[in-house]
Amino acid sequence: MARILITSALPYINGIKHLGNLVGSQLPADLYARYMRARGHEVMFICATDEHGTPAELAAAKAGQPVADYCARLHAEQAELAQGFRLSFDHYGRSSSARNHALTQHLAARLGAAGLISEVTEKQVFSIGDNRFLPDRYIEGTCPNCGYERARGDQCENCTKQLDPTDLINPRSAISGSTDLEVRETKHLFLRQSTLRDTLDQWIDSQTGWPVLTTSIARKWLHDGDGLQDRGITRDLDWGVPAQFDGAPWQGMEGKVFYVWFDAPIEYIAATAEWADAQGLGDDAWQRWWRTDKGADDVRYVQFMGKDNVPFHTLSFPATLIGSGEPWKLVDYIKSFNYLNYDGGQFSTSQGRGVFMDQALSLLPADYWRWWLLSHAPENSDSEFTWENFQASVNKDLADVLGNLVSRVTKFCRSKFGEVVPEGGTAGAREAALMQALETRLRAYERHMEAMEIRKAAGELRALWVLGNEYLQEAAPWSVFKTDPEQAALQIRLALNLIRFYAVISQPFIPDAAERMMQAMGCNDWSWPERLETALDRLPTGHPFTVPEVLFAKISDDARADWAERFAGQRA
Ligand code: MF3
Ligand code: ZN
Repeated sequence: MARILITSALPYINGIKHLGNLVGSQLPADLYARYMRARGHEVMFICATDEHGTPAELAAAKAGQPVADYCARLHAEQAELAQGFRLSFDHYGRSSSARNHALTQHLAARLGAAGLISEVTEKQVFSIGDNRFLPDRYIEGTCPNCGYERARGDQCENCTKQLDPTDLINPRSAISGSTDLEVRETKHLFLRQSTLRDTLDQWIDSQTGWPVLTTSIARKWLHDGDGLQDRGITRDLDWGVPAQFDGAPWQGMEGKVFYVWFDAPIEYIAATAEWADAQGLGDDAWQRWWRTDKGADDVRYVQFMGKDNVPFHTLSFPATLIGSGEPWKLVDYIKSFNYLNYDGGQFSTSQGRGVFMDQALSLLPADYWRWWLLSHAPENSDSEFTWENFQASVNKDLADVLGNLVSRVTKFCRSKFGEVVPEGGTAGAREAALMQALETRLRAYERHMEAMEIRKAAGELRALWVLGNEYLQEAAPWSVFKTDPEQAALQIRLALNLIRFYAVISQPFIPDAAERMMQAMGCNDWSWPERLETALDRLPTGHPFTVPEVLFAKISDDARADWAERFAGQRA
């Protein structure tokens, strides 16, 4: 048994997330967490809302609420939706927590003591129209690196380059559109990342088997141009972690806060401390996941995120942890994702384009979405959600293949043998061939899940379901029953066992359906099928079962057309 720490990139607090956000980190992280738990490993799965920064302030102002109240409300909403999608976090924290304030200020103090923080008097963009400094992403303009015209002040989403607002060409206020901007002087703290360049470079080189999408982005910012730049870690804002050091003021930093990208990843650790607090456990309980001097050396730490988050997780956050000089656990593997597009364009929060988490759950249960999203995860390239594709995949994979098998087998058994696992018959060549095929595919499924090859894993799972259907098709117990009821009993006994087996192996993808399949089989044995023979012999003759309600309803053409139209425009 291993210990596995899993974090998902923290969703911004400002609004309900869309399906593209969901499949870009939280959902695949959940798949992995569920799988690792199913394999008997000890898992700590952490997520939280990312609550600081200008976006939160502006969203609160727009909602007419004090920012703290707004964050509390949106946190509760996001937590409920996470629960609705069955995201199995051990803790869903908040970056505005007392734990995160304290840890952020502590790490800043350590970095300061190590000489890694410098004061820089900066020229910063002040919007006269908005009467405020315009930090990072609230200035838009043309990217100096690639020429993209809607680059934000913190990062160009087209080429992923991390930017400073003053780098932008033709800047304008993203709040008001005003170009009445002037540059004013303000003092900020900088993390001297550049001095850690060689350390980070060696650390990244020592990571074997990281995906190319991850390492290429990190190497690019380590080696391109002038190499790794120092980063401003404070901002002229009210809302955030006050720019203090272990609680003590830093002269000239009064009224300023740490930059949201400085405190957000620290919340991975702080949220684990929040978890320990909520459990009534002491510091040891969270430190054994995070401090290599407290046992975290045995932990395998895996992070999930969208590709735009990679520079912060390969460079900035490790720089914070390494620079502190304390024995913090660093990430072992980063699984990053491309983007999911929506019906010929992009999902867009600001334009309300696409399907948002609350809307999705109002249409269909979580499993339908989980299955489609995971089986189409944007792993090696961007992928696209279309209603046709969604309908086809639900109707075929979930309704025709898996749902149909469960319904046919249980109903046939009930009508011919009653609601118990039937007795008699002997396994022959067909059963042996099925076992052989299941064995091969099951082990491939395990390998893909281990490797977080999500689409490939979904493909193997689907193929495992298909094997069961094909077996029934060929064995045809409904005809065999007429001449050889004992043989039909054997086939149905195997098929009922297959349903339980499918519940166990499908649970990471479709947890609710899996639960219902298991319940219908009158069983609660979720142990992983290490040996197939045992797993498929789990329900003995005479064991009672029930016929479940339809597992997956098909999506009609009318419903599909209706939804496509409803979600084509703006979110209400
Ligand atoms: N909120 C960021 C985003 O959605 C991700 C923050 S990840 C963290 O892009 F590590 F910084 F927390
Ligand atoms: Zn660019």
